[in-house]
Amino acid sequence: MQKNTVLFLLFLLTLKLSTANCQLSTFTVQTDKPIADVASTMWGIFFEDINLGADGGIYAELVKNRSFEFNKPLMGWKIIRAKTANPYNDFTASDILVINQQEQNKINPHFIRVTLNNHKKGDLGLQNEGFRGMGIKRGLKYDFSVSYRQTTSNVKMHLELISEKGEIIGSGVFAPNLVPTSSGRGFDSAWQKGETSFIATATDSKAKFNIWFEGSGVIDLDFISLFPTDTWKGRKGGLRADMIQMLADMKPGFIRFPGGCIVEGYNLAQRYQWKNTIGKVEDRQLVINRWNTEIANRPAPDYYQTFGLGFYEYFQMAEEIGAAPLPILNCGMACQFNTCEVVPVEQLGPYIQDALDLIEFANGSVTSKWGKIRADLGHPKPFNMTMMGIGNENWGPQYIERLKIFQKAIKAKYPDMKLVCSSGVFPGESFNFLDSAVRKLNGEFFDEHYYSSPKWFMDNANKYDTYDRKSKTKIFTGEYAAQSDHNVSIENKNNWRTAIAEAAFMMGLERNADVVQMASYAPLFAHIDGWQWTPNLIWVNNLRAFGTANYQVQKMFSNNKGSVVLPILDKNKLPIIGRDSIFASAVMDKSTGELIIKVVNTIGKKQPIEINLEGNVKSSTKANLTVLQNDDLEAMNSLDKPSVVAPKEQTFEINGKKISLELEQYSFSIIKLKL
Ligand code: AHR
Repeated sequence: MQKNTVLFLLFLLTLKLSTANCQLSTFTVQTDKPIADVASTMWGIFFEDINLGADGGIYAELVKNRSFEFNKPLMGWKIIRAKTANPYNDFTASDILVINQQEQNKINPHFIRVTLNNHKKGDLGLQNEGFRGMGIKRGLKYDFSVSYRQTTSNVKMHLELISEKGEIIGSGVFAPNLVPTSSGRGFDSAWQKGETSFIATATDSKAKFNIWFEGSGVIDLDFISLFPTDTWKGRKGGLRADMIQMLADMKPGFIRFPGGCIVEGYNLAQRYQWKNTIGKVEDRQLVINRWNTEIANRPAPDYYQTFGLGFYEYFQMAEEIGAAPLPILNCGMACQFNTCEVVPVEQLGPYIQDALDLIEFANGSVTSKWGKIRADLGHPKPFNMTMMGIGNENWGPQYIERLKIFQKAIKAKYPDMKLVCSSGVFPGESFNFLDSAVRKLNGEFFDEHYYSSPKWFMDNANKYDTYDRKSKTKIFTGEYAAQSDHNVSIENKNNWRTAIAEAAFMMGLERNADVVQMASYAPLFAHIDGWQWTPNLIWVNNLRAFGTANYQVQKMFSNNKGSVVLPILDKNKLPIIGRDSIFASAVMDKSTGELIIKVVNTIGKKQPIEINLEGNVKSSTKANLTVLQNDDLEAMNSLDKPSVVAPKEQTFEINGKKISLELEQYSFSIIKLKL
């Protein structure tokens, strides 16, 4: 036999074998039999200041420890002196920078006193290291500001951005004012705010910021700040636009904030207290971030919550990205894994008041006390908050005891406010206890959290099929993520394996939209040099952000939410939950008349499918196909390669009422057509 003939026969054999492998799966979508409404809140966002999510992340402040209030007041700062100078002999003792207690202002008691004696630029200065460096962009304007007071000084401050290599990549000068007193005698010793701006000349993700002092006299400094001007909506002192844009692109139904364990606090003193996070940023009292020490092998001693991103900003962000706000409040219990500190029920008053006041702050008229505060901050219109969480991962009878008190007080004043209630952290008895207690109380949402293997997520695509459909309590799958390994503090990968498993699981959430009305992946953000927990949805450095494969999955679901769920069934009239490793779900968007079918193929083999469309369907039409796919389950996106796992779109013709398609191996496909 000739070589060519052998090759041809081999080719035919291979073709036959591969065709034999591919069994055709046939499904039916009943377009005229909607099962449930998809809640507008269905796919949302979980935000927590973990992994430098807020400070060092979305909050665009570049200076770390700007008010010298960290436990070590000079953390993040370095005193810098002329290279030639001997730090001990060249200056008198009074040259040395000191921290003083500022008696009259207990919220922010520390400041720095600089004593100068004919100092020249370069003799003495301060350097701030930023949050694992500062992200600086060539050509961008930077706003410097500082609180200062002086009565005799004649000081100039030379500002310099220094690249990782040590080059000056931006500079400016700030000359504080000496303000004469009204009597004309002497100078005013009150604190003043000063600011100046300058433009950076180069890009660097790990820059530092120097302030060199020149002149003579004594000047006190506090709240030394540097912000880029390309913030979200161009707001001064605002948020990182690239990160918020990624959230807006998800078209989220809700945003839960501020966490997470951060709500509970390591102890009650460090719990999240929303009232301390509004108003002038200078007056927001910082606390140690509980992720500072939480993960033993990822310590972050410089991780604090300055609350520059506070509750007003959270509400504002929610509104601007079109998401319903979902604040979570402390229920009178600190983290039960840490101190387990609990407020006696008879002392719960202030916690309840915080909840009532928050509702008034968000929704009250401008004539109400807290509504007026909101209006004075710049938002007279209400934020339309319809739900709030009581506690995060709290459990046991103590939780239910406190939940009841919150519920009674809130419902008495705001009967329509929906409450999100905790399911704790442990499956089995603890979960079941909370489940039945919350349902007895008619708590509107039960907040379930799942961090597990990709297999668990695929195996649980039918999890909600058996939930009680009649219960008034609906499910908020409030935190979930598939872990490539099982320990959050080692590097769990945001690979395609985990993302495709989540897509399979999410089919189950969507098919059960009558039970599951909210869901969010967690955690949301992580800084590549400052994380404590893995995996995470969006990774950033000081300049850039990228969406993981998991982000792409979330975005595809959220952007294709639809408004009603339709049955999609196999030949035996059963839901498509993993037989032949295919998972599927279908929705219709009543406002556009579009049918949206989602299908996941979790194996490394192409699979042909046929979907019959029942009901009032056009006999031929054009369809849109979006496919997220990679041949390698270990594939991951990264800062430099953000599109390794990214959706690809195409259109195709449908003839008759049948869609014939070959699912790519390891793929998540969305088919969209007008009915
Ligand atoms: O998402 C990270 C943490 O996981 C959250 O803070 C907590 O609620 C859960 O344990």
